[in-house]
Amino acid sequence: MSQTKLNYQTIAAQHDIALESIKPPTLTERVKKLEAILALDDVPYPIPIEKRQSYLDAAQSGKHFRIGNFCGESVEMKQYANVQEYDKYTFEEHLSWAILVREQQKTKQQFGCREYLEGEALFEIGGTVIPDFYSLNARIYQQTAWQLATVSEIIPAELFFTCHSRRFFPVTTFMRPLETDYLEEPDIGHDVAGHVATFTIPAVADVMKNHGEARNMIYAERDEKIAQTNDPVAIENIMFEADELLRYAGRIYWFTVEFGLVIQDGNVRDFGAGILSSPGETIYSIGSAESNRILIDPSDDGDLLRLANTDYLISEFQKTYFVLESFELLKSLSPERILAASKKAMSLPDFTWREIVPGDRVIDVGSVATSPNEKYYRLMAGQELDECLERTATKNLQMYCDGVSKETLSEFRALPPQVPTEVLEWFRKLQS
Ligand SMILES: [Fe+2]
Repeated sequence: MSQTKLNYQTIAAQHDIALESIKPPTLTERVKKLEAILALDDVPYPIPIEKRQSYLDAAQSGKHFRIGNFCGESVEMKQYANVQEYDKYTFEEHLSWAILVREQQKTKQQFGCREYLEGEALFEIGGTVIPDFYSLNARIYQQTAWQLATVSEIIPAELFFTCHSRRFFPVTTFMRPLETDYLEEPDIGHDVAGHVATFTIPAVADVMKNHGEARNMIYAERDEKIAQTNDPVAIENIMFEADELLRYAGRIYWFTVEFGLVIQDGNVRDFGAGILSSPGETIYSIGSAESNRILIDPSDDGDLLRLANTDYLISEFQKTYFVLESFELLKSLSPERILAASKKAMSLPDFTWREIVPGDRVIDVGSVATSPNEKYYRLMAGQELDECLERTATKNLQMYCDGVSKETLSEFRALPPQVPTEVLEWFRKLQS
């Protein structure tokens, strides 16, 4: 046995995987399976009859999967367009997938919400080989009317959400190196083994589409304003403001679609794709004593601002998770409400990812939790702060020095504690 194969065997055995179970299907086997899937009529969204043969023919001819074409809509993916070259995946990449999925399974079975687990089974995501996008795209469409768009790398937010507004989910094709638990950059493990099964939760699928539409409204407003001026400075300001607005909208997405928790049968469970694609964070999000867990009702405007005004870092596991009492509550997140909350959030101070603030309905206080004024005192004392605390403290102090009315602050569920005068005076002096 070669050294490489021996290494694979050792690694696979550590994860209870039999090396022989990793058998990537041939083109003929994939086409046979696809044919059976396409013929299914007893599904929420049957594949349009007139599309079935040409889709099958494309797969059979060896044409690589690029983007779904069942709904009559599409998205121009520009330089990010990609294809899944299924036969080019190496054995090691399939093994890496098998290990990731196996490790995810161990934690998801315990901590994943019910709908997610059902979705994963429906889409046959939990196998020992990387899924073939032709079959996966067909199955997703049948259950949710969403489709896949293959991309080469992380794509700009604008394009990402344009895809969402038309029910396309961008998926990368590369697989992370063997035995990597968390990647900042999304790979097929994050996109498919994390996100795709969440589409079977109708409220999540809808809120993703609504985010896409909210973003389209931001782009349309921005472009309309730009069309009315030739002044480069004014254009720069308009662009900056739109980007800011997108950042606030992005936080609502982050704390629900990516890192959301939900209560089911009296237990806190994961539904966020960012969590479920990382076995480590799947356990941590529910069980770690380090993080805050806060109950949230997105249909409440104050709670929505709590999400939009919370800053976070992507480089490590989250320090605050927001928990829904039911998926029903997500239905209130219309494009208009996402937009309105993002606009309001721009004029308000931010919270950091570690803090508990007045008005929070606290389930767990994490061991690294901080109080709202702590970041200011730490900044003043020259103590080491993580990037999130530092930028939030600086942003807020600037805002308070410029003046924030009590009336503006009363948009929150409860007024944040007053920033101590000595801190404000110190900051003012620093600025002068
Ligand atoms: Fe994601």
